[in-house]
Amino acid sequence: MLALIPQLTIGLADLAAAFLFLFGLQRMSSPATASSGIFVAGLGMVAAVLASFLYVFSVEAAARPHLGINIVLALVALALGGGAAWWSGKRVAMTAMPQMVALYNGMGGGAAGAIAAVELLGGKAHGATALLVTLLGALIGAVSLSGSLIAWAKLDGAIKKPLRIKGQQAINAAAMAATLAIGGCVLFAALTGSPLLLATSTWIYIFFGCALVFGILMTLPIGGADMPVVISIYNALTGLAVGLEGFVLQNPALMIAGMVVGAAGLLLTLLMAKAMNRSVANVVFTNFGDAPKQAQSAIAGSLRPVEASDAGIAMRYAAKVIIVPGYGLAAAQAQQKLYEFVKLLQAAGVLVKFAIHPVAGRMPGQMDVLLAEAGVPYDMIFQLDDINADFATTDVALVIGANDVVNPAARTDKASPIYGMPILNVDQARQVYVVKRGEGTGYAGIQNALFYGDNCNMVYGDAQAVLTKMIEAVRGLGAAAAA
Ligand code: TAP
Repeated sequence: MLALIPQLTIGLADLAAAFLFLFGLQRMSSPATASSGIFVAGLGMVAAVLASFLYVFSVEAAARPHLGINIVLALVALALGGGAAWWSGKRVAMTAMPQMVALYNGMGGGAAGAIAAVELLGGKAHGATALLVTLLGALIGAVSLSGSLIAWAKLDGAIKKPLRIKGQQAINAAAMAATLAIGGCVLFAALTGSPLLLATSTWIYIFFGCALVFGILMTLPIGGADMPVVISIYNALTGLAVGLEGFVLQNPALMIAGMVVGAAGLLLTLLMAKAMNRSVANVVFTNFGDAPKQAQSAIAGSLRPVEASDAGIAMRYAAKVIIVPGYGLAAAQAQQKLYEFVKLLQAAGVLVKFAIHPVAGRMPGQMDVLLAEAGVPYDMIFQLDDINADFATTDVALVIGANDVVNPAARTDKASPIYGMPILNVDQARQVYVVKRGEGTGYAGIQNALFYGDNCNMVYGDAQAVLTKMIEAVRGLGAAAAA
């Protein structure tokens, strides 16, 4: 009876972990509860990790040899990994989040691959089904590890350009076929016990090597700008690999966590692709980020710069203002200044709303997180479908660091790479102010007809600096009135 206690405790801890993962995920669906959702899911992870220490109590014979050393190694690994994650998580800039996600995702894929390696090299997977599932998890985990590391290097600027060679897709297909064929050799050797030319362990090492190379080859040609979608695909794959290894180990917490991550990654990939009006295959196999630049002369009209102070004062006297934040706001880290400006407008009786495009910025939900960080109340923040009709009755639309998500070419220009992408109807507002540093294009690398419209003025400068001037100008009005 006593011997059953650890087994029972592990089962209960796994159940608690699964519940906490799902409950945490459910809370992450709203910005208001998202941070507590992350905390709850983290508690689930702690429960699952602590439960794994109970396997040594007559639950799993394999956990007993070298017990002392194994426990010390596990504690050292936990301290190093946990410490590094804590330290890097504390100091990462909001704009560097996509590469951080890529790195952690790669670690997840690597962990799944490592579990599979232990199972395969230790000869622990028996029977065709167990071997097949382990090999599949190994393949997906290894591809996700090396692919995510390349994605990280691209986002971090370590790899500057997509590396493409002639016949790339055929080479990738050959690498995939070779990996699968070597997987077949591992399967044959492990099932029959008779090595095929090489020892089974050698085949296993070659299999992992090929899978890692395939992940690199698959990711290298994809443009850096498409990396957020690619990371999301790898996220789904990592989840699948972890789930498969959970099945091999018969560990319910791993199975549930893997499936939840896999499903979330898949849904996120599809949502991102839909919001960009592209198919997932189009992201992986074409080079959207490097779309040929549109000729400037293709757009009629001229750009009309105005001073930040004039734009600020115009908004102070408007009845209704809608603000569209984009990637530049995150790059400038100007969210606090923006909300400071908004509070001044509100104090003057202006109705202010924020309009969020689903792919504004460089990662899903980035704008919601930025605004939440600045303390903007959630009832001021509206998603595309809920606010688009409002622009036609708006005095001023303030576009701050956004470009592609307000580009009318998506509605009208069939030749544009963003044609068909839903956009925020900023051009329908009575007056538009666009804050950006110069004439730089956005992610899609194309010009924006909105900026040349009769109702649009450009306010050039870094978002922080421009907002500081706008705040000063509006405060100056108050001071002048009081004098
Ligand atoms: P973008 O189209 O990338 O435009 C950002 C603009 O911000 C640029 O034109 C840039 O112009 C300006 N900017 C940069 N730094 C600035 C600063 N410090 N101060 C002021 N302005 C600054 O951004 P968006 O409108 O948010 O669109 C997002 C794009 O990313 C979409 O095409 C979307 O498909 C793509 N994408 C998004 C995601 C997710 S999930 N969010 C994932 C993958 C791809 P200047 O250089 O002239 O300043």
